[in-house]
Amino acid sequence: MRRLDDLLAEGVTGTHVLLRADLNVPLDNSTGEALITDDGRIRASLPTIRKLTEAGARVVVAAHLGRPKGRPDPAYSLAPVSERLGELLGQPVAMAADVVGESARNTVQRLADGQAAMLENIRFDPRETSKDDDERARLADELAALAQAYVDDAFGAVHRKHASVYDVAQRLPQYAGRLVLREVEVLRRLVEDPERPYVVVLGGSKVSDKLGVIEALLPAVDRLLIGGGMCFTFLAAKGYEVGGSLLEQDQVETCRRLLTDAGDRIVLPVDIACAESLVADTQVTVVAADAIPAGLKGLDIGPQSVRLFTEALDGARTVFWNGPMGVFELAPFAGGTKGVGKAVAAVEGLSVVGGGDSAAAVRTLGLGDSAYGHISTGGGASLEYLEGKTLPGLAVLGD
Ligand code: 3PG
Repeated sequence: MRRLDDLLAEGVTGTHVLLRADLNVPLDNSTGEALITDDGRIRASLPTIRKLTEAGARVVVAAHLGRPKGRPDPAYSLAPVSERLGELLGQPVAMAADVVGESARNTVQRLADGQAAMLENIRFDPRETSKDDDERARLADELAALAQAYVDDAFGAVHRKHASVYDVAQRLPQYAGRLVLREVEVLRRLVEDPERPYVVVLGGSKVSDKLGVIEALLPAVDRLLIGGGMCFTFLAAKGYEVGGSLLEQDQVETCRRLLTDAGDRIVLPVDIACAESLVADTQVTVVAADAIPAGLKGLDIGPQSVRLFTEALDGARTVFWNGPMGVFELAPFAGGTKGVGKAVAAVEGLSVVGGGDSAAAVRTLGLGDSAYGHISTGGGASLEYLEGKTLPGLAVLGD
């Protein structure tokens, strides 16, 4: 795999470099103005962008935001992201009005050495995510025409076989950016030789999204702690009533099998914070995990579970945490995520926070990024890596 440093050593002054970054940040549109609520992914992309601009490259940033339906949609414009990137970079980042059209070509043409510009949301072009190889190839050809080298720093998107992640890398000299290299280095430690005890904490809403990674991790971990919406399908598999909580009935049997095969390593919550509905000023009732009343929904793990999980994390030498323990966006249901986040931060060994919502939770709950060994920018990508899947965006770089 060629690296950014190899490209820099070749010399990039005056070279147009197409940089695929993952700038898929959460936006709050409620005030009518798009506000970035967590700029972690923009910050994580800075080291590679800075290296390139400082070396005199003309950087063309390609990125996606959300999941627009293959056509321009102002709600998903990258304009606020290019503005924030410009602030952090200390120089303006020109914004193209389209992906590979006239505006993109002109914007790229106007770049001077050491400047960066951003293409509009790559997913405004339906060919980006197309399953048809020829369609993706046509977009990749147009992207490749904008630059002489390609750097992939979009770790969060390497599990996608998309034109700007996979196909374009076959058309230009391709290099892995700093973030991609760092992410892979850390995740490889979890897969190849984790120092023990190795404890994994999983949360988030859907158990069906996590079964693959649970199956892959169970043989390797000393303990697997399960919270978040996904814990209710496990509690149901134990024969408990879960009231109005999230339940994936079709996964109960699989969870039962996992509990039978590896129940000694799986730790489930013992109490649950429940409410009638998901609103901030609701009445919260904490009940035992085997006694959730019919009219209530479980929305967070309870304080006894936080203590149990904290004990299970005590002394761990390696921890991977993915997914919040409850609906942390609402204060009454943030306690589980906050408590577990603190326990993970207190671990003396390597602690890795796996992307997406858990990374956002660390920052919005003020848990302090620096307390963790590594905060991955890739939610789905880090899980698929741990699951042992081939990630197209890494494979094409020659991992
Ligand atoms: C993410 O948010 O995990 C990445 O940006 C990938 O986004 P996607 O799941 O929409 O492909």
